[in-house]
Order: sequence, then C-alpha cells, then structure tokens
Amino acid sequence: PDAEKLLDKVRYVARSCKELKEKYNVHEDGLYYLLTANSILYEAFCDMTTAGGGWTLVASVHENNLYGKCTLGDRWSSQQGDNINLPEGDGTWSNKVIFGSPEAATSDDYKNPGYYDITAEDVSVWHTRNNANMEDWTANSILRYHTETSFLTLQGGNLYHLFKRYPVRFNAGVCNEDKGPTVPIVYDYGNAQTTAELYGLNSRALFTAGFITFRVFNTEKAALAICSGVSPTGCHTEHFCVGGGGHFPEGAPRQCGDFASFDWSGYGTNQAWSASREMTESAMLLFYR
Ligand code: G3P
Ligand code: CA
Ligand code: CA
Repeated sequence: PDAEKLLDKVRYVARSCKELKEKYNVHEDGLYYLLTANSILYEAFCDMTTAGGGWTLVASVHENNLYGKCTLGDRWSSQQGDNINLPEGDGTWSNKVIFGSPEAATSDDYKNPGYYDITAEDVSVWHTRNNANMEDWTANSILRYHTETSFLTLQGGNLYHLFKRYPVRFNAGVCNEDKGPTVPIVYDYGNAQTTAELYGLNSRALFTAGFITFRVFNTEKAALAICSGVSPTGCHTEHFCVGGGGHFPEGAPRQCGDFASFDWSGYGTNQAWSASREMTESAMLLFYR
C-alpha cells in the first residue's frame, strides 16, 4: 500500500491542486507533487474539502518571536533590522525566494514556488495554532475563510503579481489613499464577531470585519501586506495587519516584524492595541484556487 501511495503521487502531473482535482478527480486532502512552468517539482498541501476543494497551500506567515523586532525569522518583513535604507525589507511578498516545508507551515515561515507560479482566482486563509500537525490543521484553526470574487484575476493571477503592483515598501504611499484591494470573505470557521475579537479592543474601532485587505499603510507610512479578516477604516494598521517592509517609524523598531505591532499593549493581552494570545500564537496559512 505504501508503494501504491507513492506511485499515486507521481502519477499526476499538475500545476495546482485545482488542476489535480479537475483533471484527475483527486479528492483527498494531503501532500501532492506539483510542477511549475519552469518544471520545478515541489510538494504542496492540497485542501480538497473546503468549499469544493482544489486549494493549494502556497505560504504561511509565522511569528517565531514577537519580542524580536525585524530579526531572524521575520521573513515576511525584514530579518535585517528596522532600517529606513531598506524600505522593502526582505522583499518576500514580490520575489521568488522560497523557504520552509509544508509539514512545518505552522512552525516556521513557508513559501513554495506555487506562490508565484500558480494562476489563481481566489485565496483561502487559515489561522492555525503553532506547531499543529498537518492532519489536525482544521481542528486547530481559530479562523478559516475564503474569497469568491475571483479578485486575483485582475491582479495578475496571484499574490506575487499583486504585490508587484502594490509594493510592500515603506513610504510608497499613505494610509487610506493608497490601499490595495479589499475583498469580502466567506467564513469556513468563525464569523465577523469572532474575527474582530482576535484583535485588541482599540483595534476593533479601526476596521470592519468580513474582508481581507492587501497592502495598506499606517500613520507613519509603514507598509503592511495583509489585514486578515478585516477592512481597515483607521490608520494604526500595524496592530491588525501582518507582513511589511523594512521600516516602521513609530517607536522603531518596536513595530517591525512579521506580526508587526500585535504586542503594542503587551504580549497576547488582547487589550487596547494587542492581539489575542491565540492569534499571536497561530500561523496564517495562505491557499490559492
Ligand atoms: O498605534 C497606537 C499608537 O500610535 C498609540 O499608542 O500607546 O499612545 O495608545 P498609545
Ligand atoms: Ca516569520
Ligand atoms: Ca500607531
């Protein structure tokens, strides 16, 4: 049976989990091989269950140390310190650097070639407890949702292209005026209220839950990549958006890092400007379909 399993995995040649599902009628969640346009073979997790399935896990944003401000492990912002001379930080949102592995997606940052290679229409996002095993991701998620508007089609087909158009770069725009796309979400676990409660009490007054928003700026023109579950209405976006460029002026370097300023009012306190502990200690898994 193990040999059969291995043969099954290499039997299908596909560019995405969606293609696996449509071409070969694959319907089991798990790891499959995918092939890029340049023939890079890689293994990816497919969610074949949520809303009809066909979702490819392409990345995860994990916070390994909220006390480290743009230090080791802050791959979605800067691992090189808060530095005004590095406005894009590590540049991960719009480059082809890959790292991590699917089974470690809740234990470290993760990015596979699908992030830039797959042409997709929608995203699905899971906030899943750190170090949860792949088999238990669903049960260990505190929030799961997806989009249904095919918004990526107008953005070049994936987040790599979206962030080329909307650079995650300090001082490339101003709060509210230069927002990237805001897309309504459909909940697979949780709702607008439970989403709002994952962020601080003060933060809740600065967004509308029920959306996902890409590339925003804060009061000081720091850039943030994804506001998960919300559409910001105010400018202190550093407390509820993740990823970023390499410079966050307010209290520098206190707001610099993958989970930016989720700890402004203390680690995991869920008071004032701080996210909840469960949010702080969950990774954000990004899927395409
Ligand atoms: O983002 C909140 C910050 O700009 C102000 O924080 O501590 O003065 O309420 P604080
Ligand atoms: Ca990280
Ligand atoms: Ca602020």
